[in-house]
Amino acid sequence: MIILGIETSCDDTGISLMDESPEKVRILANSVSCQEKIHSPYGGVFPALAKREHQKNILPLLKKALKKANLLKKEEGSLDLSKIKKLENVLERYPDLLSEMKSFFSNYKKPEIDKIVVTVGPGLEPCLWVGINFARALSLYWEIDVIPVNHLEGHLLSNLLDQNPAIPFPSIGLIVSGGNTQIILIEKLGKYKVIGETRDDAAGECFDKTARLLGLGYPGGKKISELAKRFKESSFDIRLPRPMIHEKNLDFSFSGLKTAVLYETKKRKKEVLESAEYRIEIAKEIENAIVEVIAKKIEKSIERFDAKGIVVGGGVSANKKLRSDLKKLARTKRISITFPKIRYTGDNASMIAIVPHFSKNKKVVNWKSLRPNSNLKINGR
Ligand code: KG4
Repeated sequence: MIILGIETSCDDTGISLMDESPEKVRILANSVSCQEKIHSPYGGVFPALAKREHQKNILPLLKKALKKANLLKKEEGSLDLSKIKKLENVLERYPDLLSEMKSFFSNYKKPEIDKIVVTVGPGLEPCLWVGINFARALSLYWEIDVIPVNHLEGHLLSNLLDQNPAIPFPSIGLIVSGGNTQIILIEKLGKYKVIGETRDDAAGECFDKTARLLGLGYPGGKKISELAKRFKESSFDIRLPRPMIHEKNLDFSFSGLKTAVLYETKKRKKEVLESAEYRIEIAKEIENAIVEVIAKKIEKSIERFDAKGIVVGGGVSANKKLRSDLKKLARTKRISITFPKIRYTGDNASMIAIVPHFSKNKKVVNWKSLRPNSNLKINGR
């Protein structure tokens, strides 16, 4: 079975093609179009621009992925007129995409795709709509079933892409990205309970906002961690808070950390702020503060739920210090730990395509009933 995955929940457009058999899954194409450069001047994702970029990129990405998977076959034909009205309704807000889709449908043969899997939330609603309407258009025109998927479950199951870790139950799931920071009790694949989450900014958002304060550009996580790696010794004695680290609950709050960075930088002279030594030292302290709080809350979660493993996902799971501190914790607790391959840490459609294979969450719906839910939860709290 060939599965088409579609992801547009934030600022990455993702298309994936996956070959699925009962025994295994194989990714045939994982195409992602990142919008980092476009959002960089705003220091964060600008939803209207993100939506426009998804509209522009989604069909070219599908063609690229089909070509890579050897599923793109030219065929001069005519449009199926019985479906045109519906297609026009679905894509009425995206006139350019509609006309590109019409020419695509009339110039290419229906590919051997058996199912479409699409992110319906959580995420930015205008962005989610682009992926959903694209899925609806393909589903109605090619008459292919669609399965709606939760983006957060995708981040957890990204651990099962191109690797085969044993996930014991219960495990503690940690999703750390630009939009989400959650601790999830994984009772089994498909059965989740949120046991901790951020009360304000996500961990990635904290990296991004503090990087912006330091003039490092967007997205900031990678830039901060690259600077932090160069740290050798302290000259400025920078101390940032570790918000909520001593509280018993498993929640986070990262917005105070951003404010603390702002006050710290205000104390400094321009020459200091611009010096490499200061930037390296404050980057190291920001990374330490975020990672230490996360590691402490994960330790508490393991103890409270007698967890047998840790499963990490999301853009921030690419962070080397987070990986090494959590690995140390897992060793101390004698439990397993798994991270996604780096190429699957950021938003991508392969992590979406894979969800119905491993999870009980695989309900086929009619394309007409597909709707975004920007606040979709992975499960109750
Ligand atoms: O999962 P993702 O691609 O998108 C969202 O759904 O948000 O995550 C993007 C986030 C950004 O905030 C980015 O700064 C952060 O992941 N990030 C990192 C690293 N690489 C990406 N944060 C810390 N260290 C990194 N190496």
